[in-house]
Amino acid sequence: MTQNEKFRFKRRMERRNLFSGICGADKSVKLVFLLLYLAGFIWVWCKQGAIRSAGDNMVLLSPILKLVLENSMTTYLLLGGGVIVFLLVYPFGKKAAQDQLQSIGLVNHAGMVPVLLRKYRDKENNHVTIWEFRSQSIPLVTWQDKQSSIEAALDVSVVKVKYSKGKSRILLHTVPARTDLPELLEWKDSCLSQTDFELVLGEGFLGPVKVNLAHIPHILLGGSTGSGKSVLLKLLLMQAIRKGAIVCIADFKGGVDFPAVWHKNCRMCFEETNLLALLTELVNELERRKSLFRESECPNISQYNKATGSALKRYIFACDEVAEVLDKTGLNKEQKELVSQIESKLAVMARQGRAFGIHLILATQRPDANILSGQIRNNIDCRVCGRADNVLSQIILDSTAAAEQIPKDARGRFLLHDGTVFQGYLCNEESL
Ligand SMILES: Nc1ncnc2c1ncn2[C@@H]1O[C@H](COP(=O)(O)OP(=O)(O)O)[C@@H](O)[C@H]1O
Ligand SMILES: [Mg+2]
Repeated sequence: MTQNEKFRFKRRMERRNLFSGICGADKSVKLVFLLLYLAGFIWVWCKQGAIRSAGDNMVLLSPILKLVLENSMTTYLLLGGGVIVFLLVYPFGKKAAQDQLQSIGLVNHAGMVPVLLRKYRDKENNHVTIWEFRSQSIPLVTWQDKQSSIEAALDVSVVKVKYSKGKSRILLHTVPARTDLPELLEWKDSCLSQTDFELVLGEGFLGPVKVNLAHIPHILLGGSTGSGKSVLLKLLLMQAIRKGAIVCIADFKGGVDFPAVWHKNCRMCFEETNLLALLTELVNELERRKSLFRESECPNISQYNKATGSALKRYIFACDEVAEVLDKTGLNKEQKELVSQIESKLAVMARQGRAFGIHLILATQRPDANILSGQIRNNIDCRVCGRADNVLSQIILDSTAAAEQIPKDARGRFLLHDGTVFQGYLCNEESL
């Protein structure tokens, strides 16, 4: 872009911003200004005779002032209107915010900084403030990448960033920088979602954080040891059991994480050959459902159950520390072959499971390409990352956000793929 083009572009945007400054002001602010203006109008109207005679009585008055006092109504209309337009357009506080964003380099190719149009309380969450910016063609990913710098610049914690009005505006949902989520959140049965088939992960700044397996069928949990993966996995499985799903758990850590109560309510599997048999059974069930749905022309399990009055249940296959099964390092040829077969069954479930109500919830510290093949990984859209360093966060979420946003000593604190930070519920597994 040449200097000349940049200049023209800036001028055009400034004119646009002037207009949106008036249109974008809060309704309550506009109303207050309008009422003040009307009150002033009535006062001048009632007093115009007195104002005129006061002007007439003053001998040494300049002719301009005399003219003003004689035509008090017209002067008020013009001058008052001008003041109101100025108040609506002048960026009180807005300028400071824009300067802060400029200082962290959040500018477009023409060097222009986003314009703050409005700042207001979220109606649904009283403690959340929404900053509405004209995006100046800066894409959402840039805002997300610079989230930490934006937080420092505006002295807030950003809980959500999204587009509004197409892609021309950006909404930053923020809470005061000192606000934090609770360190401990006890699970209560009232937290269970009534929606089919929605699981609650925890609580974020904007309320409960949920994932609906009917839309996002599989979940991957990652994060360093002690970050809370097993606890979160069990929270999700507990809800799935309550909702009537058939839960199958593969545990290769000797069953220490799953006490007897789980064995009563789920199908457990502790060994590779049994695991292959279990996965083969699940894939066969998937194929059986495929032909059932084809015959009754139903696209998914919910519609099939509705249309035929059947009660097909969802299957959840969960594996904690899935790397224990899928890591091929140090295995002989036979063992590698077994793992490949397990992998290929998981890949079928990952690819096709959604419509047929067959879901995967996999947890592992480091789900890199050596552990999870692209076939499985790319089909797991819901990714959750606990405490992690830059490299780990990058592996799980394709960004370093978890390293930046989750405190080093946090337990049960996670970041969802869409940037939502939440505290997972701690549930008492004895009450399963
Ligand atoms: N949601 C949570 N709230 C509070 N403490 C938690 C939570 N999740 C985990 N913890 C604590 O962290 C410890 C480790 O959790 P765990 O799930 O075993 O971690 P990981 O499986 O990632 O190694 C738990 O024993 C518990 O004390
Ligand atoms: Mg664990």
